[in-house]
Amino acid sequence: MDVAGVVSAVSDTEAGVPDESTVQDDITTQAKEAQQHPAFYSDATAYWSSVPATVNGMLGGFAHISAPDVSGSERFLQSIFKMQGAPGHARAVDCGAGIGRVTKLLLQKHFGKVDLVEQSQSFLDRAKESLQNSNKVGSYLCLGLQHFSPEPNTYDVVWTQWVLGHLTDTDLEQFFRRMASGLKPDGVIVVKENVTSSGMVELDEKDSSVTRPESLLLKIIDDAQLKVLRNTKQTKFPEGLYDVKMLCLKPK
Ligand SMILES: C[S@@+](CC[C@H](N)C(=O)[O-])C[C@H]1O[C@@H](n2cnc3c(N)ncnc32)[C@H](O)[C@@H]1O
Repeated sequence: MDVAGVVSAVSDTEAGVPDESTVQDDITTQAKEAQQHPAFYSDATAYWSSVPATVNGMLGGFAHISAPDVSGSERFLQSIFKMQGAPGHARAVDCGAGIGRVTKLLLQKHFGKVDLVEQSQSFLDRAKESLQNSNKVGSYLCLGLQHFSPEPNTYDVVWTQWVLGHLTDTDLEQFFRRMASGLKPDGVIVVKENVTSSGMVELDEKDSSVTRPESLLLKIIDDAQLKVLRNTKQTKFPEGLYDVKMLCLKPK
């Protein structure tokens, strides 16, 4: 998904346009149908192969939101470490890691070891360069998250940011289930994702991803037998962007 994707203009009520609920149903249907198509994943791979391996590339031209993003994540992670039965600091995995922005600016400061999972080898190569002086990186795994299966009892924190819209609803539920089995007993999954305010699932044809309403994200989480321990909205982002939610999840 376009990190900086703006709120869709579909809810505009101009005279003569179809009834709003019909438009919303159509938009959601279109997004669901796109996920059934085999090209859903290959189109995303093709899109990302055209994107420069830079922070600006990762953030859809909005490099300036990286600092408030990382500050918001930092506060969220600190609040997780203060919970009763908090996760440990030994090992995290950065899912959809891109060029390693989140690992470099956040995760390596909090964990003894961080693995990166990312479908683009060129982004991972850039991450390796950028993190060459860090002794915190474990493995660089070039893999789609739909295929990622961690060993059981491995991670204190599974961090997923601005990538889950690239998984179909079905694959997302299965992904959550596999991540849950990869957690240590006090481990948690963190989700940081855009959500729509329209109640619709919105398709981004450019990068072949969907942006889900929070209600759908929460349903998939519930279906995956996870419970929500924390649910916070990112603040200090520019107007006009999708809302960004940070969720801390644990197996039920
Ligand atoms: C918007 S960028 C976010 C990168 C990073 N999480 C960040 O916040 O800086 C999305 C990333 O997800 C990766 N990606 C897209 N589909 C993926 C998939 N199915 N599995 C793993 N990574 C994927 C892209 O290659 C890209 O690096």
